[in-house]
Amino acid sequence: MQHRFENDEEVMQHAVTLAARGVGYVEPNPPVGAVIVDAERNLIAEGWHQNFGGPHAEVNAIAVAGDTEGLELFVTLEPCSHHGKTPPCAEAVVKAGFSRVVIGCQDPAGHVDGTGIAKLRAAGITVDVGVCSQDAEALIAPFRMLMLNRRPWVHAKWAMTLDGKICTQTGHSQWISGKESRATVHQLRGRMDAIVTGAGTVRADDPTLTARPPGARVAIRVVVDSTGRSVSLDGNLVRSIPEAPLLIVTADGQTDHSHTKALAAHGAEILEGPNDYIAAVRFLAVELGKRNVTNLLIEAGSSLMGSFSDAGLIDEVHAFIAPKIVGGDLAKSPLGGSGLDQVAAESQFSLVDWRQSGEDMYFCGRVMRS
Ligand SMILES: NC(=O)c1ccc[n+]([C@@H]2O[C@H](COP(=O)([O-])OP(=O)(O)OC[C@H]3O[C@@H](n4cnc5c(N)ncnc54)[C@H](OP(=O)(O)O)[C@@H]3O)[C@@H](O)[C@H]2O)c1
Repeated sequence: MQHRFENDEEVMQHAVTLAARGVGYVEPNPPVGAVIVDAERNLIAEGWHQNFGGPHAEVNAIAVAGDTEGLELFVTLEPCSHHGKTPPCAEAVVKAGFSRVVIGCQDPAGHVDGTGIAKLRAAGITVDVGVCSQDAEALIAPFRMLMLNRRPWVHAKWAMTLDGKICTQTGHSQWISGKESRATVHQLRGRMDAIVTGAGTVRADDPTLTARPPGARVAIRVVVDSTGRSVSLDGNLVRSIPEAPLLIVTADGQTDHSHTKALAAHGAEILEGPNDYIAAVRFLAVELGKRNVTNLLIEAGSSLMGSFSDAGLIDEVHAFIAPKIVGGDLAKSPLGGSGLDQVAAESQFSLVDWRQSGEDMYFCGRVMRS
């Protein structure tokens, strides 16, 4: 039976759901969804941007619909107006003869930024912008960050005990969270462009940091290690270089060049950054931005996590809280660094989602900034 939507918001929500299917596949492009309806809001066709370099959502939906004359197009993001990997969508939308176009949010990219909307209006199409804008904006937050700030959207992930520890006082941490939570972490890894950890975690856990099973994309693994010596030549990170690239960021003046030369011979890339923890994470964010890294996951101990937090570089938190207690003054908590002097009066997160994950609780939320 044909589906009929109640109102504009319902159509746009459906477009948002479609767009989300592209997350992990389309970056550094934004995920976009499109729905075509008739004047009574009967569903005619739908589409989404499925992979980087492939046709955009509007074009996919138009192809499914066939004859679109006089119909209405709902799209989560302003149609593009420039020749990129594909021709401008705004032109295809004009050619399709839509009577009305409803847009979730404007494209923040400097080369679009309202010009797609202007093209549609100039062609005499009724254009409404801002329906379900919060959801539409949330979808493209990583894209917006890369476009406007030239750095990745940073996800911080940790697993902690009920008493707020990420390891025991001896550094033992495997495993704090349960099977379901660890599977979620692998899914997260599978949609990241880069995953970063610190020297302490490499020494304690000898991690591999690959997605198992593989996801939509293969992340560059990044280790921040002042000397480079924590990454051993026969460790899991080096052993798995054929599966995923490895970048080691050392500190100027501290690098052990004979060891990093050996790591490079095994296929690792070595980059020397500033010899200051906060400057080093800022440097890394800029460097990864230059490489079009849209989503970066931090899977580190409290020291590196603290540097990212103190630098104001955490955008989204994924915390798994396990029903376990380890105690110990010396057992680390998720965030080290300088931290804050006072507890914030209000919640510091938006779009908060608390969920049961096996025996654990999974918190996901976006850090609010003024
Ligand atoms: N439960 C969890 O989710 C989880 C996740 C990861 C790790 N862990 C546990 O955390 C423990 C390790 O904690 P950690 O704090 O030592 O590990 P870490 O944050 O992974 O590594 C810290 C080390 O990285 C180096 N580093 C280089 N540049 C840095 C920068 N800009 N900022 C901060 N550090 C920088 C420093 O050593 P140099 O100065 O020598 O380079 C520093 O001691 C392990 O026991 C591990 O099992 C738990």
